[in-house]
Formats: sequence, structure tokens, C-alpha cells
Amino acid sequence: MSKALEGVRILDFTHVQSGPTCTQLLAWLGADVIKVERPGEGDATRAQLRDIPGVDSLYFTMLNHNKRSITVNSKSPKGLAVLDRLIAACDVMVENFAPGALDRMGLTWEHIQAINPRMVVASVKGFGPGPYESCKVYENVAQCAGGSASTTGFDDGPPMVTGAQIGDSGTGVHLALGIVAALYQRTHSGRGQKVLAPMQDAVLNLCRVKLRDQQRLERTHTMHEYPQYPDGKFGDAVPRAGNASGGGQPGSILRCKGWETDPNAYIYFITQAAVWPAVCQVIGEPGWIDDEAYATPQARLLHLKPIFARIEQWTMTKDKFEAMEILNRYDIPCGPILSMKEIANEPALRATGTVVEVDHPTRGKYLSVGNPIKMSDSPTEVTRSPLLGEHTDDVLAQLGFAPADIAQLRAEGAI
Ligand code: COA
Repeated sequence: MSKALEGVRILDFTHVQSGPTCTQLLAWLGADVIKVERPGEGDATRAQLRDIPGVDSLYFTMLNHNKRSITVNSKSPKGLAVLDRLIAACDVMVENFAPGALDRMGLTWEHIQAINPRMVVASVKGFGPGPYESCKVYENVAQCAGGSASTTGFDDGPPMVTGAQIGDSGTGVHLALGIVAALYQRTHSGRGQKVLAPMQDAVLNLCRVKLRDQQRLERTHTMHEYPQYPDGKFGDAVPRAGNASGGGQPGSILRCKGWETDPNAYIYFITQAAVWPAVCQVIGEPGWIDDEAYATPQARLLHLKPIFARIEQWTMTKDKFEAMEILNRYDIPCGPILSMKEIANEPALRATGTVVEVDHPTRGKYLSVGNPIKMSDSPTEVTRSPLLGEHTDDVLAQLGFAPADIAQLRAEGAI
């Protein structure tokens, strides 16, 4: 079966997490992704957080599936000449170097355009144009600068970063969409273009509802679904809302049976208005259905803390899976707090390929997250990440280099 991006060739000049997330997705959609790495060491993540000495880390293997790896020294003139040949042969260049690094290599937009005017040049940077545009940025900096940290955590605690890598992987996903759109536009414009996804902007996009709330707060000075209401105080900026729901349906994380010893014996419980009578029946408070203090969503907003405390009395009598099963019978939206251990062993995620076991020549078998995007006409087979420079000779031969030239480039340290 063909793949959605079959025939698209990507010069993958990315490293660490944000860029590799993007190019891995494109590879899963069928693009031929050629990862260019520095001779000798390659992507720094190959050696970061290693669990097996001398073996590519899980950090690297889990972000670089379905790619080919070639080594090219961009600081050598002959290495740069190899890059020019790659630019001529590829449709897209993706990079996430520190600001200015690509220009310092001589790979300016003008240089790339002169070689290949159809090339899409896609970049992740920490910030867009402005005071911080030249800064180096990692995940948590983006979470802080993009509005996530100030709105995450509890009201009486400091700002908090989230474990979901919204700055790195989140930006990589945004960039991938920009690339696919630029390739589509190229089908009628005939031209490439620059695509930029700044990490601050991508995080802010994912925190869109908090900018919504900032404006609501400025207008009404209060927000009834926030835990600060009705007893606490609101300031002039969106406060941290703990585990309260970000939407119009109040929700909370509640303890389940076993919480004393199991740090993940919890369930997320949403008191959706449409199923309020069912909630009351399940927890044994049928009188709340008509009680005017609880009967309407508006009235309930004044009593969310005691309501969730009463629901928790019920959830604490069930384990999270039992609670989930009972609540689902009544269409009450809820979700168990799953640990990574539970997710790793979840049969449904294995069956759909979202959790996959991959075999690697030096590491052996390991688990990874497969392609979360499922397409009926473009299935994904996850293949292992490449060893450093594993495909250098193959790719150069495809570009027309003779074996003797390749040997010479290697001897001169250009590849
Ligand atoms: N051959 C020779 N040199 C190479 C090379 C190659 N194949 N590939 C990269 N280099 C060089 C670059 O030219 C650069 O040299 P220079 O500083 O002399 O110009 C150098 O390697 C380092 O690149 P840099 O991007 O600055 O790496 P870093 O490790 O210092 O910084 C980041 C890492 C992530 C902080 C930085 O790349 C960054 O801010 N990227 C943009 C935002 C981003 O994506 N952040 C999230 C990462 S998950």
C-alpha cells in the first residue's frame, strides 16, 4: 500500500526532541527522512540518559524511527558541498539549531533557494522575532514563556511544568503541519517557503483556553468554575486551577480504593450537566436531583468542593477500573489515572500500534510510542532508529557519488 507522503524526501538536520518529533511523524506518513548528523558523535541525545553503556539511548531511539542516518561535517568545505547536493535532491529541510547556526554554516535561505527554489525550509526556534529571538531554548523554558507554567499547579504552590512535552514534541507537531501545508501550496505555486514554529507560540496555542480565561477574568473579575470561587480571591492574572476542568463541565481528580499505597489510585470525574441525575443516583444522593442548591449547573458552581468531596466518598469504595466501569454504564465522563506501567501493558494500545515493541541491533527489544495518527490508506510500520551514519554510503551513492569519492570524503573528515 502506498503512503501519504511517499516520494517526499526530507533533509533532516534536527536534533534533541522538537525537530526529531516532527521528522519522525513525516517518516511515519511515508517520507524518506535522511537524518544528517555530526561525524563521531551524532545527535547529542544518542548519548543522553543512557540506560545501556555504549548503546543509543531510548531518548534517541524513540524519536528517530523510520529514518536513515548519514554523517556530514558541516564545518568542512567538502561536507558543505555534500549538503548542497542533498539540498538539490530533497523537498524539505527541517532544522532546530540555535538561532543563527544555519546561517553560520553558510546555509542561508538565499543559498538554499539558489540551489533549490522548491525547497521548504522548516525551523523550530525557541522564540519568534522579538526580544528573545536569539535565545537557546529547551522544553521547560518554552512551557514557562508560553503561559503553561503560570496556569499549571495549585493556587498555593509555585508555577509548575507538565510532564507532557508540549514545548518540544508539541512544537514538532505544529511544524509538521506547516511542512505538509507548504508542500501542498507548492503543488500550485511551484515554490518552496520558510516555515517557522517558535516553541513559545506553540505552547501558547496549546494554552489558548487560558488566554480566553484571562479576558473573562478582566471583564467579570471572577470565574465560577475555578477552585478560587466562591471562597478564595482572584488577582488580575489567570490563576492556577489545580485539577479543575478547563471547560464548562466541572471536574476533579478523586481518590479511589487503594490510594493510601498506590500513587495512581485516582480517577478524573466530570459532573457533566446532562448526567447529573445519574451521578446523584450512583453516589447515593437522589435527593440532590431536585434540591435547589444542586439542581442546576449554576447552583452547583457554588458547592463544587462539597459535591466532589461527597463523590469521592463513593469513588474511595471502588478501585479506579471498577469506578470507570460503573460510571460508563451511565455515560458519566470519567478517566482512570493510568501509570506509565499500566499504559505500557495496555492491550488496546498495543493492538492499534500506539504502543509498539521495536527490535534494535545493539539494544534489543524496547517499547515505543507509535504513530498516534491513524490513516486508512497510509498505514504505519514502525522501524528502528538508524545507527550513526548507517546509511551514509547508500545515500551518497544515490546522490551519484562514486565509492572512491566516498572513501576520499571519509578520509578527509567531511563525512
Ligand atoms: N557538523 C558540524 N557541526 C555541526 C553539525 C554537523 N553535522 N551539526 C551541528 N553543528 C554545529 C552547529 O553548526 C553549531 O555550531 P556553531 O555554534 O559554531 O554555529 C553547533 O553544532 C551547536 O548547535 P546548537 O544548535 O547551538 O546546539 P546546542 O547543543 O548548543 O543547543 C539547543 C541546543 C536545543 C538549545 C539549540 O539547538 C536550540 O535552541 N534550538 C532551537 C530550539 C529547540 O529546538 N529547542 C528544543 C530542543 S528539543
